[in-house]
Amino acid sequence: MQLNEIKKHWTGWAQQFEGDLRATTKTRTIKDLEIAEFYRAFKRTSVFSKPEGAVLEVGCGNGHNCFGLSQLIPHFKFTGVDFVPEMIANANKLKHSDDRYQEIDFLVGNILELEDNTCLASDFDIVFSNRCIINLNTIDLQKAALDQLIAKTSLGGYVVLIENVRQTYEQQNKLRQLAGLEERTPDKFNLFIDEPAFLEHARKQLTLVECKDFASLHDIVLYVLVPMINDGNTDYDHPLVRATAQLLMANESELSGQFGAFGQNRLYVFKRDPSR
Ligand SMILES: C[S@@+](CC[C@H](N)C(=O)[O-])C[C@H]1O[C@@H](n2cnc3c(N)ncnc32)[C@H](O)[C@@H]1O
Repeated sequence: MQLNEIKKHWTGWAQQFEGDLRATTKTRTIKDLEIAEFYRAFKRTSVFSKPEGAVLEVGCGNGHNCFGLSQLIPHFKFTGVDFVPEMIANANKLKHSDDRYQEIDFLVGNILELEDNTCLASDFDIVFSNRCIINLNTIDLQKAALDQLIAKTSLGGYVVLIENVRQTYEQQNKLRQLAGLEERTPDKFNLFIDEPAFLEHARKQLTLVECKDFASLHDIVLYVLVPMINDGNTDYDHPLVRATAQLLMANESELSGQFGAFGQNRLYVFKRDPSR
């Protein structure tokens, strides 16, 4: 899909689903897991122990990560940016409907033009994206997007990504094949990350601190086991899918990453090393 069509797609979902989580994903349980995992990852950074921290989410949609994380980490100040004005309008509507969210800023902005966006500071302690980079339709644009995230990160700060990865998606499809299910294919508006090429580029400026398959068990249940007992169909609200998400979130001992590499979302924590 061309970039303008991808933007049209997200504009359509923003108009149709407004402030609902459905504007950014069909899988409600994955959003809970993503917020829990960002929280755990942020907690492990050196920023967490500071009295305050500035955090930027790029491709924030209607704001659910910023809302959830701001409640878990009240000493961090969150800013969200998205290139669809309707997404930002919906995020602002939710913000103004709840006193707890008044400190969060939402702005319109393109991940490919962050450096030129003078409304945004250039020294965030943490810059993160969640299934945004996969909306760029070439590997070169994905690399350029990462460079833009880095440009807004302070020296010594962190770039944290949860993005869909081709290689783990292929693993999931192998399981589906074994189960006699058809292979899944990504949505037309997504290009999943080709990890070796992407990491080679990232390592030019960043140190990879951590890579975690936090959603592997969730995706095995959602995309393999439940379809096996449900005529091949995915059921996003199946009680087993919800139970799996609950289990993975309850586990404070970081066991969520111990179920193999079959999830389509992977967490990466990079540090912008001051010595590089
Ligand atoms: C899958 S949604 C994820 C939203 C949010 N990060 C979350 O996890 O709830 C992807 C978001 O990225 C935004 N997006 C896509 N391409 C973008 C770009 N070039 N610049 C900024 N935002 C973009 C879309 O408008 C959409 O809101």
